[in-house]
Amino acid sequence: MALAMIVGACGGEYPNSTFNHTTEFNASIDTLFDKLMFWGTLVFIAVEVALVYVIVRFRRRPNAADPKPVHGNTTLEILWTAIPAVILIFIAIPTVRTIFATQAKAAPDALQIEVVGHQWWWEFRYPEYGITTANEIYLPKGRTVNFALTTVDVLHSFWVPQLGGKRDLITNKTNYLWFTPNADIQTDAFNGFCAEYCGSSHANMKFRVYTVEPDEFERWAQHQARPAVFPVQAAVPVVPSGAGVALVQDSASAMPMAGDTAAAATAPAVDGYWFPREQLPAHVIPTTRLPKGLTFDESLLAQGDAERGRELYSRSSCIGCHAIKGNPMSVSNVGPNLTHVATRHTIASGLYQNDAKHLALWIKNAPAMKPGSLMPTIGIGERDAVRKNTISAAMGGLTDAQIADIVAYLQALK
Ligand code: CUA
Repeated sequence: MALAMIVGACGGEYPNSTFNHTTEFNASIDTLFDKLMFWGTLVFIAVEVALVYVIVRFRRRPNAADPKPVHGNTTLEILWTAIPAVILIFIAIPTVRTIFATQAKAAPDALQIEVVGHQWWWEFRYPEYGITTANEIYLPKGRTVNFALTTVDVLHSFWVPQLGGKRDLITNKTNYLWFTPNADIQTDAFNGFCAEYCGSSHANMKFRVYTVEPDEFERWAQHQARPAVFPVQAAVPVVPSGAGVALVQDSASAMPMAGDTAAAATAPAVDGYWFPREQLPAHVIPTTRLPKGLTFDESLLAQGDAERGRELYSRSSCIGCHAIKGNPMSVSNVGPNLTHVATRHTIASGLYQNDAKHLALWIKNAPAMKPGSLMPTIGIGERDAVRKNTISAAMGGLTDAQIADIVAYLQALK
C-alpha cells in the first residue's frame, strides 16, 4: 500500500492542489503546512524511536525476575508535560500568525467581488463595474481581490483550491476572503467548489476562475457591464419596387435587436474579451454525464432563430427568474443573470459545457440534469422530478423547436 501511494504521488497533474504559490494566501498556507509537517515528523520519529528502544531493551526475558514496581517520578512527569507544551508553542505561533494574516482586512484598493451563494449556483457581482454574472469569475493578475461572501439560503463554502479559501457563506452575515493572484502566474483557468454540504446538488455547485492580464480584465469588465448587443441576421426588408435599395444582409455587423435599450444601440462597440475556449485546460472542461432518456432533436438547433427566441423568451416563464440587461422584459434576479451568457464556458454552475445541445437539454428538463434544480422543467411531455408533474403546453411548456429558438437567442448573447 505504501508503495502504491508513493508511486501514485509521483505522476500526473494536480489541477486542484492547494500546495502552490499562485497567491500569497496559498503560499502562507503551504509554508505553514511545511512547518507543521516538519515538527510533526520530528515528534513522530522521536516517539517511535523511544518506543522501539523501550520495547526491545525492556522486553521480557526467560527466567528474569519480576521488575521492581515504581510509584511516581516527578522529573518524568514534569518532562512529559513540558515537552508537549513546548511543541504546542512551536505549532501555535506560526498557525496563529497565519490565521491573523489571512483574516486581516484586504488592501483598500482591492477589487471588490460580491459572492452570493444560491442552491446550487454562484452569483458574482463586481460593484465597481456594475456587473452581475454567474458561476465564472475573472481576476486580473497582480491585483488583490476581496470577496464579500453572503448566501440567500443555506450555508455554502467558497473554495478555489489553487488560489485560496475556503471560507463559509453564512446566513445573515458577510464573511470576507482576499488574495492576490501573483502577477507572474499563467493566464489560466481554475476550478472552484462549494465546500459545505448544502443539499442535493452540493457536489454540482461548482464555478470557474480565470486569471487574466489586467488589460484583458478591463476589456472583459467593460464588455460585461454593457447590455447585450449581438449580431443578427437582418430580416429581408420590404423593398419598394424600383427603389434600388441595397439590402442589409451582413450578419456580422453588430445590429442591436429590437427591444434593446437605446443605450445599447448607440454605445460605441467595446473590444470585449473572454477566456478563449480553445485555450481552456482539460481540468475545467465539464465531463458530467447526461441523464438517461433525456434527448433533443439536434437537427432543430440549426434552425433556431435568435429573434424568434428573444420574442418567445420575453413572454415565457424564463423572465420570472432571469435578467438580461438590454431586454426590458427580463429583470428578475432569482436565477442567474444571463446578460452575456454566451461568453461563459459552462452552464448549470460548471456542470455542463455551454453549447447548443446542453443549453437545449437544460431548458427542456433542468431538474433531470441537476438534481433539485430550482429551474423548472419546460419541455412539453417532460416529467419534472422536483415538482412531480408532467409539462403540457397549457402549463407554458415549450416544444423542441421553440427551445431551439431560445437557445439561438441565448447563444447570441455575447
Ligand atoms: Cu453550496 Cu455545498
